[in-house]
Amino acid sequence: MTMYRIAPSILSADFARLGEEVRNVIAAGADWIHFDVMDNHYVPNLTFGPMVCQALKPHAKKADGTAVPIDVHLMIQPVDALAGAFIDAGADLVSFHPDASTHVHRSIQAIKAKGAQAGLVFNPATPLDVLDWVIDDIDLILIMSVNPGFGGQGFIDSALRKIEAARQRINACGKDIRLEVDGGIKADNIRRVADAGADTFVAGSAIFGKPDYRAVIDQMRTALA
Ligand code: DX5
Ligand code: ZN
Repeated sequence: MTMYRIAPSILSADFARLGEEVRNVIAAGADWIHFDVMDNHYVPNLTFGPMVCQALKPHAKKADGTAVPIDVHLMIQPVDALAGAFIDAGADLVSFHPDASTHVHRSIQAIKAKGAQAGLVFNPATPLDVLDWVIDDIDLILIMSVNPGFGGQGFIDSALRKIEAARQRINACGKDIRLEVDGGIKADNIRRVADAGADTFVAGSAIFGKPDYRAVIDQMRTALA
């Protein structure tokens, strides 16, 4: 049975109360905290850096003290220097866009050498070809179902075909690789995305845009059940 993961994106949280927002969304049932890093270069927006990750790390745990993974999504170019800084700041998973790194294999190895899990992120128009050569080296594939840079955009349907293609590649390689999807995920489309093969779901505005985070996460889990 697939173990689904819901990863709320704090991009849509209240930035004036980030620690509290992280604690509240974990209390509401979040499995991972998705941390969207934007540099106003690779994407036309600017968010937060390693110091904010470090400040939030102590808040990323359940009431019983169990750590909740911080899932860092780098939308930055270049990749390597800051990837290491995020791992030092407590990131558990670090994903980057292969088109933002000159040496994708080297960037993956650098992330893993520092003890984090490594992921590759694919924009709506980016092919999966690079996986021909590095799928055995990664822990996560992240399919963008919006163009990166902003929360609250509509789901791009061609992502479903790409999720199916990514799932086939994961099955063929036989390794335990998470298949995450990011952008426009809501309780009313999450089932379709899971049926295409995704097992991990980023949701920003759908969760933080509503007053009751638990109600939204519960609706998502019901749709997945
Ligand atoms: C977009 C980010 C997403 C964003 C998703 O560049 O990678 O993680 O927060 O937001 P929603 O869920 O609102 O589409
Ligand atoms: Zn993201």
